[in-house]
Amino acid sequence: MSEDKYSLGMIGLGTMGRNLLLNMADHGFAVAGYDKDQSKITLFENDGAGKPVKGFTTLSDFINSLAQPKVIILLVPAGKIVDAVIEELEPLLSKGDIIIDGGNSHFNDTTTRVNRLAQKGFHFFGMGISGGEEGARTGPSMMPGGDMAAYLFVKPVLETIAAKVNGEACVTYIGPGASGHFVKMVHNGIEYALMQLIADTYEVLKNGLRMNNEKICQVFAEWNKGKLQSYLLEITADIFLYRNEDGNFLIDQIKDEARAKGTGKWTTQVSTDLELPIPTIDIAVAMRDLSKYKLLRTEASNAYKNESNSIAEINNNDFPAKLEDAFYFSMILIYAQGMHLLSKASVAYDYKLKLDEIAKIWRGGCIIRASLLEIIHQAFKTNPGQPHLLLDKDVESIIKKIVPIAREVVVKTISAGISVPAYAGTLSYFDALCCEHMPSNLIQAQRDYFGAHTYELIGKEGSFHTTWKKRND
Ligand code: 6PG
Repeated sequence: MSEDKYSLGMIGLGTMGRNLLLNMADHGFAVAGYDKDQSKITLFENDGAGKPVKGFTTLSDFINSLAQPKVIILLVPAGKIVDAVIEELEPLLSKGDIIIDGGNSHFNDTTTRVNRLAQKGFHFFGMGISGGEEGARTGPSMMPGGDMAAYLFVKPVLETIAAKVNGEACVTYIGPGASGHFVKMVHNGIEYALMQLIADTYEVLKNGLRMNNEKICQVFAEWNKGKLQSYLLEITADIFLYRNEDGNFLIDQIKDEARAKGTGKWTTQVSTDLELPIPTIDIAVAMRDLSKYKLLRTEASNAYKNESNSIAEINNNDFPAKLEDAFYFSMILIYAQGMHLLSKASVAYDYKLKLDEIAKIWRGGCIIRASLLEIIHQAFKTNPGQPHLLLDKDVESIIKKIVPIAREVVVKTISAGISVPAYAGTLSYFDALCCEHMPSNLIQAQRDYFGAHTYELIGKEGSFHTTWKKRND
């Protein structure tokens, strides 16, 4: 790279783009940023004062400031904007230049872009980036997939700025095509499920055990010191302590209507297409949707006041400890569902995913980082073809100890009228998964009864149809 040129450029200096560039500059890389919004350029240059950074509001000036081959990361909202930016870029770039989409693009869009841009001689790859504002600045987890040659070119930068766990960078080449964005999407699906599990827990602690915010904070903070150690629990504990200037807890003033940008929904949609069940992620998406029906929920709450909404106290001193085990059980099953989806997608889309490597780069920097990922990493390292995390011997021994406790927690919370969809859905998934004989034979019989869809018989080849009820005419 020539000396007076910037080695890498970023389009989109929002929170993620700005912080990622500053992270690179912290490590001595000369970087340029482009944004139409002058205030974002000013913020970027102020934050990067004394470092090798430069902002531009004119695209051609920005492009001309970059060394050959030009490496440009896009951190713009997913969807049409990505295509619009690429279209603007194309006439300004030369063959061999590298475009990296670092946003949360849908993997199908990435597949189209990978193919289209490869035909034009540009290197393009999609890269999931996780870690939010702090991660971007101090070390994110990154999931690049697609053009291997382009990845190898930027690998030294990515490895330098990535989060480190035991000295190992939380970035690895994920696989061909849109695999990087696919893996990031599943990361987010897991994120949704973990967040719903924590929300269920909040409901139990608050309404079942009548704990105040300080006590709830203590429980989460305590759990975060042990086997449940995870970024999401860490920030949850902090949230319960935050007071406004008026002295009141902020959490109590936030509307109970959750928003979503779509990656959880995509995970659910794709899992349905691939016929690979991930019910805890599905239910987390459904609960975000249900939360938006405030008026309906209020009316239903009034109508059934003395029924489902009569939350009884759970009078049991050792309940928090049991809840901790039930949480662990559900947490393992949530990651297991995500990994299961990845293994199915790997075959379906020929992504050649290495699940142990994915678990490894999720151990640091990303939103779903947790000490449990070390166990998951080891499980897939020992047996890369492991069909399901639950079949790993170490995981099996953990699960066997805690499943009765998870069952007790679900029974007690449901009896007390507390909604715990993540706990209950996960347990039902586990029970069905461990069921050699599911009641699906009946579903086959019903389909054949009303629609002559046929059924298969145990120990006999072929498809069969029965006239289940003779007509009386
Ligand atoms: C991350 C996050 C991030 C995501 C937000 C918001 O890994 O840093 O997953 O990519 O955009 O978590 O997602 P929702 O708006 O869908 O909740």
